[in-house]
Amino acid sequence: MFETKKFIENALEEIRNTVCGKKVISACSGGVDSTVATFLVHKAVGEKLTAVFIDDGLRREGEPEFVVKTLKNLGIKSKFIDARKGFFAALKGKTDAEEKRKAFREKFYKTLGEVSKELKIEFIVQGTIKADVIETVKGIKSQHNVLEQIGIDSQMYGYKIIEPLKELFKPEVRKVGRELGLPKEISERMPFPGPALSLRVLGEVTPEKVAIVRKATEIVEAETGELKTFQNFAVLHNDKATGIKNGNRVYGNIITVRIVDSEDAVTAKATQVPYQTLMKISERITGEIPSVVRCLYDITDKPPSTIEFE
Ligand code: XMP
Repeated sequence: MFETKKFIENALEEIRNTVCGKKVISACSGGVDSTVATFLVHKAVGEKLTAVFIDDGLRREGEPEFVVKTLKNLGIKSKFIDARKGFFAALKGKTDAEEKRKAFREKFYKTLGEVSKELKIEFIVQGTIKADVIETVKGIKSQHNVLEQIGIDSQMYGYKIIEPLKELFKPEVRKVGRELGLPKEISERMPFPGPALSLRVLGEVTPEKVAIVRKATEIVEAETGELKTFQNFAVLHNDKATGIKNGNRVYGNIITVRIVDSEDAVTAKATQVPYQTLMKISERITGEIPSVVRCLYDITDKPPSTIEFE
């Protein structure tokens, strides 16, 4: 049985002992894990903490504004880094899923290295959880936030990493968030991967493709919010299909919609979404995004699929 209060007490003590009154930054993407980790460290060290939000150009619609507002409401000092150009440059020409993840990870840690140097900081907090570590170590996916567990020393980027949630699974992270008093919109938030929409643009990532999948994501989320499923999203394919728009042949984009139920992301079930909802999503995606001519629904569970396509 997970004892939430005890976990928090121990974590606060451990964080204080580790940082010993020094300044800390926390990489906060606005997701459940990184926000809970940030809030926990803020509780432990207060004003010594600065949360860093990196805008990599790969976030969902309205996300950068949401994160800045959330941190402000929580009373946490924050720093906004506009790194969009650098991330697109790092991903340019990369088509292999693992290569893309590694390029993202490298750029992510280098960017944090620059911030830590500028702010003269020794420690960086991140919201790695147990599932991230397991999948990376097993070689299924190199989750962007797993380093030391696969033998990479973060000191090569110029700092030490603190991961207060690395022994927890998602349901426990949510319990910690609730116990700490985080608003529901954070503790119950749908999981979103660190490398963000880069995993949902199959093949090379460009600003134009990200804009397409961002719009499709917005539609999927708007039409499925009521379902209360674990994760709902859109994926842009790398290949194209024939369609008809305004009476003309269009060789256009394909979007797959993925909606899954899960407890901890280790296994997942494709949701039996009402057909009317799927039709509405398809009509909106093909109607509101000019280049999209085809919309598919993924009916595969995890395993054999993973939740994300990449
Ligand atoms: P998969 O696709 O492996 O995903 O079934 C399991 C859960 O993890 C999320 N995910 C990631 N989260 N960095 C993250 O922070 C990553 O590189 C990453 N890859 C997948 C995914 O969205 C799902 O919730």
